[in-house]
Amino acid sequence: MSLLSTPSVLVPAPDHQNNPLMSIIMQEIEKLGGWMGFDRYMEMALYYPGLGYYSSGSTKFGLMPSSGSDFVTSPELSPLFGQCLAKQVNQALSQTHTTEVWEFGAGSGALAKQLLGQLEPNVHYHIIELSADLQSRQAKTLEKYSSRVTWHQSLPERMEGVVVGNEVLDAMPVKLLQRIENQWFERGVTIYKDELNFADVLTDLRPPIDISGKHDYLTELPQQGIAFIRTLAHHLQKGAAFFIDYGFPESEYYHAQRQMGTVVCHRAHQVDMNPLIDPGLKDITAHVDFTAMAMAWQNAGDEMNPPKELGTLGYCNQGRFLLNCDITDYLSQASIQEQNASLKLLQEHEMGELFKVMGLYVDQAWDACGFMQGDKSHTL
Ligand SMILES: C[S@@+](CC[C@H](N)C(=O)[O-])C[C@H]1O[C@@H](n2cnc3c(N)ncnc32)[C@H](O)[C@@H]1O
Repeated sequence: MSLLSTPSVLVPAPDHQNNPLMSIIMQEIEKLGGWMGFDRYMEMALYYPGLGYYSSGSTKFGLMPSSGSDFVTSPELSPLFGQCLAKQVNQALSQTHTTEVWEFGAGSGALAKQLLGQLEPNVHYHIIELSADLQSRQAKTLEKYSSRVTWHQSLPERMEGVVVGNEVLDAMPVKLLQRIENQWFERGVTIYKDELNFADVLTDLRPPIDISGKHDYLTELPQQGIAFIRTLAHHLQKGAAFFIDYGFPESEYYHAQRQMGTVVCHRAHQVDMNPLIDPGLKDITAHVDFTAMAMAWQNAGDEMNPPKELGTLGYCNQGRFLLNCDITDYLSQASIQEQNASLKLLQEHEMGELFKVMGLYVDQAWDACGFMQGDKSHTL
């Protein structure tokens, strides 16, 4: 590993007097010999106990900055999101003869509440939640369903049922890869003049496909997301999984023109491009490479002894998925305010096109209602 002599990017001075997480990160960088991979930095900024963005008590989810929130997610925007997803989840439960739902990273509990309202009373709901603060918020939201909900901090060895995760994969730490003058570097974090800075080290890592051209190029590798999907594949004995998130197939993700990567930060409903400022005080995300996730699932099945058939039920944009789940029927009964909010879930320039839904099966494919029209699995 060779460090470039000077940091490759300088960032404005952060306020680390008032940010204890910044000092902890700096100490860890020193312990590591002066350089920390961006994936480790992102993990600390989001999940460091008590101080990481998702571990602390900040508001995070909400409609407007005035609520103290930083961003809005689909279930926060409209209950119709959960009602439509419930149609798919109910079909999956019946097709796979299972009676449990597993939600990863349940946020405020909004989606769980929407789904529980539409599930049969015999269906048990499990939430896998890393943050103690969010778990207690979810317990309040789901008070009415308390006897039907169990929280877990990690995956049980064996699971059966239907898995859902909305905007979970984008919150998983990524490695940064930077091509400079036709050489590939891993971009990490160092300390320069008492501030955090990016620094690049030579690497053998490469994007999964060649990036045409010789121009400088920044991108990500979703190694934690891949490991997560692989682990899920090994634990889920029977059932199906549905992940909803912003992202693209590999050919779009690693398009030669996407030269600045996809990592962004969210705070007070504004986007900024500098993750090294204010760690723990804002969200850091990367778009999802859905090809990598689908491949991780399929490969995990091939690796099993004996091999197990794991594959993709469907992949389409969120707008199409919700239409396939009959959102228009629900819209016609909704108030004007609800209709306006729900349209954002569908409109191409809002969340309808960039957000995708991917369905995964165990053992045997079946015709999932959410992908009946507009399935783009062939693009993965
Ligand atoms: C952007 S928030 C989305 C919250 C919620 N699903 C929603 O749509 O409002 C991302 C969530 O994913 C959770 N998360 C990230 N990695 C996780 C993992 N490996 N297991 C469970 N939750 C995870 C985070 O803790 C956080 O609550």
